[in-house]
Amino acid sequence: MSHAEDHEGTRRDFLYYATAGAGAVTAGAAIWPLVNQMNPSADVQALSSIRVDVSGVEVGTQISVKFLGKPVFIRRRTQEEIDEARAVNLDDLIDKDDRNANKPGLDASDENRAMDEAGEWLVMMGVCTHLGCVPLGDGAGEFHGWFCPCHGSHYDTSGRIRKGPAPENLPVPIAEFVDATTIKLG
Ligand code: FES
Repeated sequence: MSHAEDHEGTRRDFLYYATAGAGAVTAGAAIWPLVNQMNPSADVQALSSIRVDVSGVEVGTQISVKFLGKPVFIRRRTQEEIDEARAVNLDDLIDKDDRNANKPGLDASDENRAMDEAGEWLVMMGVCTHLGCVPLGDGAGEFHGWFCPCHGSHYDTSGRIRKGPAPENLPVPIAEFVDATTIKLG
């Protein structure tokens, strides 16, 4: 018997026992994981892109959503935050790369990191680039953006690393507005 046949046989046996042992409802529940295993591409597709309704996000607040198992910060910045981010001299930055998957390889100016031209929306992975803790937001840290308490990394209002051990700016994932109030990640 080949390895493949053996595998099929195991599956059939499992279905048989699940059905025989515990009735229709449990059998139904047992079949689902098997169907998912047989369609990994559908499973991956469902996870690789999500749509986030941002209609309830007020200016000066942020939401955190889970995408591909990691937190993503979606912040609607105040004009003060935008102005502060755009007034920074690029020579003062530790990481001079925009770290924006939508515009790879550009400089780390705030214009290259924000979602929209006015800079109201900032979307970033909520994962510290030092060792992966989740930074605190809402104006935390010495640069009024995000602060990672694990080892003291300070990020500015554009999510750029300004002080501490983290080597890179918080990365911006693939993201776009698909309508006025919906951001698609991935
Ligand atoms: S993990 Fe954030 S500073 Fe170390």
